[in-house]
Amino acid sequence: MPLTVHRLSPALGAEVAGVDAGTADAATFDAIRKEWLASDGVLVLRNQSLTPEQHIAFSRRFGQLETHVLATYLLPGFPEIYRVSNKTEGGKPMGRARAGTYWHSDLSYMQKPAMVSLLYGIEIPPIGGDTMFCNMYAAYDALSPTMKTMIGGLRAVHDLAFAARGVFANERPAVERAPAAEHPVVRTHPETGRKALFVNPGFTSHIVGLAPAESAALLGLLFQHATQPEFIYRHRWLLHDLVMWDNRCTMHYAIADYEGIGERYMHRTTVLGDEAR
Ligand code: SIN
Repeated sequence: MPLTVHRLSPALGAEVAGVDAGTADAATFDAIRKEWLASDGVLVLRNQSLTPEQHIAFSRRFGQLETHVLATYLLPGFPEIYRVSNKTEGGKPMGRARAGTYWHSDLSYMQKPAMVSLLYGIEIPPIGGDTMFCNMYAAYDALSPTMKTMIGGLRAVHDLAFAARGVFANERPAVERAPAAEHPVVRTHPETGRKALFVNPGFTSHIVGLAPAESAALLGLLFQHATQPEFIYRHRWLLHDLVMWDNRCTMHYAIADYEGIGERYMHRTTVLGDEAR
């Protein structure tokens, strides 16, 4: 069955209507995966009705699932599901509040960073709580040939402890156990063969072999370049969206602008990828 697909923005992103991730057969899954790759990294499945078991089973079709280092936020009985929420129950958080409120690519601090993350919107505030995505293929493509040559052989360190200085300050003991990883600044996507920038403000601490000021200046330039509005799709969540993003060619940023407006509760699975090359 051919899928009905609409582009969501000129920069990246597409939506598919009329598929049920919970019961998709092998041919439908292959078609979804093809559209996900063609979308430049963000595919939205609308109106899903997923139990945790179905969410996990659908995600496993992409590959091996990760168990998030911040164990407090895992769904009890389902360690594959990381909860993102501003809700509390009995005084305890129901998920990580303000998760991902900075540009990042999931698990880039790991030796094998995430391939795809699948976030399922179970409760959505009436306004706010959008997620922005940026197209790191387009960001790379738009660099000058000289800059491409300059950064082509560089490597950068990605470190969760670096993030612990800021957004993870309350989780220091857990995040400081995670070892840092080194990746190329420009990676080649293993499925599309396209080149993408692979540094992010959340987790990239420095570029190997540069003086601290040189590294900070070059990273600052690349971050500013990559997050230009022309490379961004801003996702306005609808109830029961399942959004799948490719961490190998996108960054994302969750906008924390809904405190006092409404409740947001989401389940995320994350599939491990290959070493970046
Ligand atoms: C995340 O970075 O996984 C959170 C994204 C979101 O809550 O929109």
